[in-house]
Amino acid sequence: MVRIHPLAPIRPEGGFFGKLNCMAKKRVLSGIRATGRLHLGNYLGAVKGMLALQEDSNYETFYMVADLHSITTPYEPKEQQKAVKEVVLDYLAAGINPKKSTLFIQSHIPEHVELAYLFSSVVSVARMSHLPTYKEKVKQHPKNITMALINYPVLMAADILIYRASAVPTGIDQEPHLEVAREIARKMNSKYDTDFPEPKRFATKGEYIPSLIGEGKMSKSVEGSYINLTDNLETIKKKLALAPTDSGKGEKVPAKGGVANLLKFVELFQGEKKRKEYEKQYLTTGIQYGKLKEGLAMAIYDELKPIQKRRAELEKDTKYVEKVLEDGAEKARKVAAQTLQKAKRAMGLSS
Ligand code: TRP
Repeated sequence: MVRIHPLAPIRPEGGFFGKLNCMAKKRVLSGIRATGRLHLGNYLGAVKGMLALQEDSNYETFYMVADLHSITTPYEPKEQQKAVKEVVLDYLAAGINPKKSTLFIQSHIPEHVELAYLFSSVVSVARMSHLPTYKEKVKQHPKNITMALINYPVLMAADILIYRASAVPTGIDQEPHLEVAREIARKMNSKYDTDFPEPKRFATKGEYIPSLIGEGKMSKSVEGSYINLTDNLETIKKKLALAPTDSGKGEKVPAKGGVANLLKFVELFQGEKKRKEYEKQYLTTGIQYGKLKEGLAMAIYDELKPIQKRRAELEKDTKYVEKVLEDGAEKARKVAAQTLQKAKRAMGLSS
């Protein structure tokens, strides 16, 4: 049995307690691309999961703004700093607590890129070019099929594995990328005898948030499809007003399209019972969409109001936000540098 002197420091660097702590707590990493303000899809699909794990003492949480991922598709350099800042403010306003979570900007930890390069040596170009996420981006931006774009999942694997994270709260659309991260972990472990964990996605109830305008998911790149966390009641009402509906009545509640999406939002913001009520109305008296949208707009705004209040306070406190990011980078870098060094040693690139 190991005996610890009662006056020994609680967590000596790399000592018994340090190791015990690492073993006991599971690491979590997640990120959101820096493309401006967060919308409800990001909030429900990723941030809510991040908050849940932050509050669970079994986990040590690392959350970042993926600014290096935002340059994989065309972007505006002059707007970039602001876009990053918007995500940081949204994170903090939504409840990411720097006392509990390490919050940082991806590009502040260059080790991610170096590990991604090492990882790229165990990944085939063919595998990356067959990913649905890659194919989608190629369709959207046929003139910008860059090395950075094809490397997107490899960098994401490095983001996760550099913290040896085993849980990743993120939307369901990221599942193919997590599969790649697991493959990389396995390959590295078998080829170089490293011990990367195989990360799993941590799913939330709102893991797939549909677009407001019918098809597909809520997305920054589809105008009219999203509600921002910073939208006021009037804007939310206006956006909901544009969501397509039908006559309000039928023999079967639609399983996809505008009405199905509205009902999904009702379920998420007003609860399952409310959704059931509307479903019943659809089959009998008919739904009055004006009323439905009114109630839904209020419910969404109620959830966003406290976030917006906190955000307004944070916007004024630039110093605090900067300090949070500095501290976050410092903490993240310590862990990242260690993992990178280990990987380099395992690969024969360092002694
Ligand atoms: N690709 C993710 C998205 O678009 C963002 C991201 C980058 C990420 N690195 C990550 C998410 C690591 C989880 C873990 O949402």
